[in-house]
Amino acid sequence: MNIISYTIWILENHCFIVYSVLIAIFIAFTVFHKNRIENRELIREKKFVPKYYHAEKISDRKNHDDEDPDFLTSAIPENTPYIPYKPIRRSTEEIIKRSREYYELMATRRTVRSFSTEPIPQDVLDNIIKTAGTSPSGAHTEPWTFVAVQDPHMKLAIRHIVEEEEEENYARRMSRQWVTDLKPFATNSTKPYLCDAPALILVFRQTHSFRSDGKKRMHYYSDISVAIAAGILLSAIHYCGLVALTSTPLNCNSRLRDLLSRPHNERLELLLPVGKPHDNTTVPDLRRKPLSEIMLNC
Ligand SMILES: Cc1cc2nc3c(=O)[nH]c(=O)nc-3n(C[C@H](O)[C@H](O)[C@H](O)COP(=O)(O)O)c2cc1C
Repeated sequence: MNIISYTIWILENHCFIVYSVLIAIFIAFTVFHKNRIENRELIREKKFVPKYYHAEKISDRKNHDDEDPDFLTSAIPENTPYIPYKPIRRSTEEIIKRSREYYELMATRRTVRSFSTEPIPQDVLDNIIKTAGTSPSGAHTEPWTFVAVQDPHMKLAIRHIVEEEEEENYARRMSRQWVTDLKPFATNSTKPYLCDAPALILVFRQTHSFRSDGKKRMHYYSDISVAIAAGILLSAIHYCGLVALTSTPLNCNSRLRDLLSRPHNERLELLLPVGKPHDNTTVPDLRRKPLSEIMLNC
């Protein structure tokens, strides 16, 4: 019996088994192929996550020195004592009243783009930055540096850098949609407020720091920690009666970092001109989303 007649014999006498095997192979192939497509989709999604996000998140959790027993000493002493915490106790009525009052105060905060040149007392700058420094941070790493610039020459040097980069940003780096979305705010590459405002606060994020023994100290969640500190800074500025312009100077990080002699583990996140508003200041009549759109009670 040759191979062909043997195959025919099998098909005739064992057709049930043959068809079952064929159906099983078909099902297995379909499942395998579906998984491959899903994996490919996952990889594609991951590729859209910015590189720095991966870098920070991975380094946040894992360090190559993990095996070094010396590295396993905690950055602040493990035997840090616990002390009683006794904040002022308030009645429910008082809490309700204060929550309303604070909302009403913060609802009047606005981003201002023209400033009076009147100086800010050093005490005020110290206090608002001390307030920002009270922020929570991942593992109490306090990954921030606030550089307060009041020297007119330094402000001018900053303005030159920011305006040069902004010309490029508006002309080539930002999308046309982005530039169009900014039109209601009448922003452009000219930034007189960088010289007019009595102080510029540059908020740097430390990606990591160094322990007293020279070893690298990991900073966990430095981005969200600095964002929270910036929010507290903005509310302190508003609370004391000053105004600020929240700005993120695109592509200025390395030039401003070098100008201000900041180290390479620091990244410029925000540049806030701070002061009193110019007498003729106007702001766009913006509406904020109502509570029903930003809050869910579950
Ligand atoms: C991350 C961030 C970056 C911003 N960058 C700029 C900027 O570069 N220039 C500017 O004029 N305003 C900037 N703004 C201010 C926003 O335009 C402003 O907050 C928004 O229009 C809402 O207005 P309000 O702050 O008065 O409520 C920025 C705000 C944020 C939060």
